[in-house]
Amino acid sequence: MPEIIDGKKIAASIKREIASGVELLKREKGVVPFLTVVLIGNDPASEVYVKSKSKTAGKLGIQSETIKLAEAVSEKDVLNLIDKLNENPEVNGILVQLPLPPHLNTELILERLNPRKDVDGLHPTNLGLLATGRPTFIPCTPFGIWELLKRTNHSPEEKDVVILGRSNLVGKPLSLLLSMKQKDCNATVTLCHSRTSNLPQMARQADILISAMGQAEFVTGDMVKPGAVVIDVGIHRKEDGKLVGDVDFASVAPVALAITPVPGGVGPMTIAMLMQNTFQAAKST
Ligand SMILES: NC(=O)c1ccc[n+]([C@@H]2O[C@H](COP(=O)([O-])OP(=O)(O)OC[C@H]3O[C@@H](n4cnc5c(N)ncnc54)[C@H](OP(=O)(O)O)[C@@H]3O)[C@@H](O)[C@H]2O)c1
Repeated sequence: MPEIIDGKKIAASIKREIASGVELLKREKGVVPFLTVVLIGNDPASEVYVKSKSKTAGKLGIQSETIKLAEAVSEKDVLNLIDKLNENPEVNGILVQLPLPPHLNTELILERLNPRKDVDGLHPTNLGLLATGRPTFIPCTPFGIWELLKRTNHSPEEKDVVILGRSNLVGKPLSLLLSMKQKDCNATVTLCHSRTSNLPQMARQADILISAMGQAEFVTGDMVKPGAVVIDVGIHRKEDGKLVGDVDFASVAPVALAITPVPGGVGPMTIAMLMQNTFQAAKST
């Protein structure tokens, strides 16, 4: 059987590091990091994520608040709220929980954030800095995947990495991150998407295969090079209530050198890296 990459355990150790950093920041500078989460509407999954974020923040000594807005809120009101949070010196980090209701323009709202408070790393300035190899806030899921690889001695350095999915949230920033000219990056990255002509063949080239497609159990054993490291970003709840990823664990595990489980792989890392970015925002104010 392959190595099972334990995201929960690695996230716990990152969170311990952050908690000591937060403690030190408080003692030496009297600064307590403060995160504001903006939750719009009643999406049950978003509510669960937001609760989990504020609970984790509390455990690490990070203060947080959740501002809940009605599903029907106008774009103008959301932008006004962001302006106020941008100006509030108490607030170090602002996170707008996605997805937004369809009448709101996600790009416009994310662009309104002060990039120095954009702890999700999705503002065009932060994505641009990442693209030019000078990252400030790295988007949390790509950041978490990078940490998972480094901390399990599967550095992407000089590896052929294939990423399935090119979203602005995961696939695209991850491709920028892993191809940066710096230690523990330097990967040769192939970014696949729904118009890739021969995706299984591409996937089979990968030393490190990362799936962020949002297609339940799509990646099967015959799409994986023997000895590859497989990172599964997808999260899907099946009809029987079971959580699965983009990867068909049963057929891929026997082929892989290492693999992340769902749940307990990438998911816990995303929250840990949000805390890391919030801590970093507080340190640099
Ligand atoms: N664990 C975590 O913390 C975490 C965080 C974020 C997301 N997720 C999960 O990760 C998955 C992806 O999220 P996302 O926000 O990146 O999704 P997304 O915005 O829907 O993007 C999906 C990407 O996959 C590509 N794709 C979809 N179906 C495909 C197919 N059959 N063949 C090839 N490419 C295909 C799409 O191609 P096109 O661009 O051509 O449409 C798109 O680039 C979801 O399951 C989500 O729940 C998990």
